[in-house]
Amino acid sequence: MSNMPDMRLDPYPWYASMLETNPVTFSSEFRAFLVFRADDVRKVLSDYQTFSSAIFDGLSLDLPFENQLTGMDPPRHTQIRALATHAFTPKAVLELEPRMNLIVNCLLDEMLAKQESDFVHDFAIPFPITVIAEILGVPDKDRVKFKYWSDVIVRISDRLLSGLSDSLPEHIAAYNEMTDFFRSLLQERRRQPQGDLISRLALAEVEGRQLTDMEASNFCVILMVAGNETTTNLLTNAMRTFAEHPDQWELLRQEPRLIPQAVDEIMRYRTSVQFITRIVKQDGEIGGVKIKAGERVAAFLGAANRDPAKYENPNVFDITRPSGANMTFGHGIHFCLGAPLARLEMTAALKEMIHRVDTFKVPEVAVLEPLNAINLLGLKSLPLQIIGR
Ligand code: HEM
Repeated sequence: MSNMPDMRLDPYPWYASMLETNPVTFSSEFRAFLVFRADDVRKVLSDYQTFSSAIFDGLSLDLPFENQLTGMDPPRHTQIRALATHAFTPKAVLELEPRMNLIVNCLLDEMLAKQESDFVHDFAIPFPITVIAEILGVPDKDRVKFKYWSDVIVRISDRLLSGLSDSLPEHIAAYNEMTDFFRSLLQERRRQPQGDLISRLALAEVEGRQLTDMEASNFCVILMVAGNETTTNLLTNAMRTFAEHPDQWELLRQEPRLIPQAVDEIMRYRTSVQFITRIVKQDGEIGGVKIKAGERVAAFLGAANRDPAKYENPNVFDITRPSGANMTFGHGIHFCLGAPLARLEMTAALKEMIHRVDTFKVPEVAVLEPLNAINLLGLKSLPLQIIGR
């Protein structure tokens, strides 16, 4: 991906050519080695001693970003991650299903009442925000602020990925507002614990001491940020892709048992997080290319998911493709904590939609605009004309 809008809308022709001709290469635009092949991406993400996640260390960000889970290495990473794993196991997440179905149906009621809707704003944004806010235990009245906070903070990581290590005043203000909000909620829950994740974080102990407010609020921030926009993009990419492939939508409606495969195929075909970054701690090698300590590496999950060495006809969207491991949620010790949740959200949305939506299409006049984010694949809006059943 690069800063060019066409590339952000459709990076796949570039990936196909890089996979064939230049699978590991240095880019001055990214200031990093770019890695495309599935086996090489897996290697980078598996070897955390060589390819460290501490990409924010040493940068003057005016923000405590190095204290975020995604930017930590073991042993700290292992301890902090353990605090929340219970909330995201497939079993724990399944308990949310009835509530999710209700949220999906409410949003669909509103969408189907209109002749034309913007799927991003009417569905793909509010759905994951509502779900994660419920898991954390955030009061209803405070939920609208989240989208703004979460968006701004995702943009900080975008600047970092573009090699800019400074933060803009609006980023700092949004970050401070969000952490202040979580800190006061944490203090409230210490006094009066409830059954939510914020109460658990407020009372959790690591190495014999409670987490500081800053540590616990950082954790809340990462859940908001990692879980919202990524899932919004997954849902949006799904509808964009089905609108382009009405035969696959019809097949899914005829064969709902294909939903788990369809979810995997959507994530493979249009991957929400296109690349993730690591910093090299000790001299190493990827795909025969030597890489020195201190260099940065961008591992392209989006390209790995279209690697012809792993997938037959990788550029074909086919919901009957057998489910299999793809790289959408990363790999290794940082494998996405929210993967079962994101999958269930997509599943809940498809289950209801195949019953309630007959056909839908993007109006011919619509111009699809990509997000202003270099590592995320998604749209600013997705106008849809939907015909209900
Ligand atoms: C389609 C939706 C999602 C996608 C594509 C996605 C993708 C990813 C990827 C690629 C990583 C690995 C980052 C790395 O190795 O540097 C990751 C990590 C993470 N994700 Fe997700 N994610 C999604 C949804 C969620 C949700 C719903 C949550 C929680 C509410 C979540 C929470 C996290 C957390 C906490 C991490 C850090 C794990 C660690 O560092 O150990 N994600 N995600």
